[in-house]
Amino acid sequence: MNRILIGAQWGDEGKGKVIDLLARKSDIVVRYQGGNNAGHTVKFNDRKFVLHLIPSGILHPGKVCVIGNGAVIDPEALFEEVAILEKEGIKIRGRLFVSDQAHLIFPYHKVMDRLKEESSQKGKAIGTTKKGIGPCYADKMARVGIRVGDLKSLDYFKDRLAYVLAERNVFLKKIYNAPPLSFKKVFDHFKKYRAKLLDYAINTPKYLFDATKAGKDILFEGAQGTLLDVDHGTYPFVTSSNATVGGAITGSGISPTFIDRVIGVIKAYTTRVGEGPFPSQFPPKLMKFIQTKGEEFGSTTGRPRRCGWFDAVIARHAARINGLDEMAVMKLDVLSGLPELKIATSYKVNGEITQDYPNAIFEFSKAKPVYETMKGWAEDITKARKWEDLPVNARRYLKRLETLTGTPLKIISVGSQRHQTIFL
Ligand code: IMP
Repeated sequence: MNRILIGAQWGDEGKGKVIDLLARKSDIVVRYQGGNNAGHTVKFNDRKFVLHLIPSGILHPGKVCVIGNGAVIDPEALFEEVAILEKEGIKIRGRLFVSDQAHLIFPYHKVMDRLKEESSQKGKAIGTTKKGIGPCYADKMARVGIRVGDLKSLDYFKDRLAYVLAERNVFLKKIYNAPPLSFKKVFDHFKKYRAKLLDYAINTPKYLFDATKAGKDILFEGAQGTLLDVDHGTYPFVTSSNATVGGAITGSGISPTFIDRVIGVIKAYTTRVGEGPFPSQFPPKLMKFIQTKGEEFGSTTGRPRRCGWFDAVIARHAARINGLDEMAVMKLDVLSGLPELKIATSYKVNGEITQDYPNAIFEFSKAKPVYETMKGWAEDITKARKWEDLPVNARRYLKRLETLTGTPLKIISVGSQRHQTIFL
């Protein structure tokens, strides 16, 4: 069975834990978009792993992990992660493959990301992770990107880098009055990683096609979330890749006819890190409470995440765009102890009620949530292991989420550990 796992909000839904659970039933786990801007946290046996680029399936012995053509790779970050995992005794060789079509993140991408963010006028900055993601994808689309497979010919790579870097240095000087980057330094830096990177590089679409034909089960691991998708998210406050279901297809080279199920991961409340509108954001006191209780701090940048009530409008949008077959609801335990819970069921935009997510950012930023209020529960639910263990108000809340999103719930997470999970 081939499954795609998608974040149904603004990222940080808890995908790392679900991927970790589903990886057991998969032979291959594939990352298909984004880069080391992501942070997938997996906790087990009192150990905590945060993976930024390597698929979380790597923590399961015997599983093969693939970084697809749609991802962007910073070799320094990749090999740092490889070293951390190897130090923990996790075997990587022969278990990790990288697409020879994936684009490389260069130092000038990171410099440009940082300078653009720092020089943006108030209200214009995206709040990026400054990992060079946007500039790297921009180069890909402008057809001046450099791919992993380009390293096979050092002459080609050198020629390409010289051409692109010369242009980038003019840009850095003229727009930001920033010093140029030395060609020699950048070239030598990549030469250092060349052999190592090429060791992992394969034709991943062919690999995945052959694997599917051979009856292997593949899990496609989405990063970020639907509302951060460059097409379907809160543009321009988004990341630069397709975090929705289509990204899994183009970003891995798998045919949509080979996909069996699409699984959405959603938090029992909503969070957002970085800039951009967030209609159901909590007032400050409640925000602080949930931030602390839910450990809502970015796993890549450490920034506090903004928190808010469950927003059924964006959740419906995610269910529709991704055609979700089922959903995993995460961090339900964080809501324990709140006397009442609100759900945004629609928005009021320019005096009109709408059930639908408004695509224009100037409308979305004016959206006032229309709330429905439900009773909360006081019990600690972290030890619940089946539906019947949950307090009746928690069950009612989950049933309401199911109805509002039109998507069956299959997994409920009541804690960060692997075993703190209810399978329906
Ligand atoms: P970029 O992907 O670094 O360009 O950042 C663009 C936006 O996406 C910013 O608001 C980031 O905070 C957000 N973002 C990127 N990656 C993640 C993630 O893994 N989780 C949550 N937000 C993310």
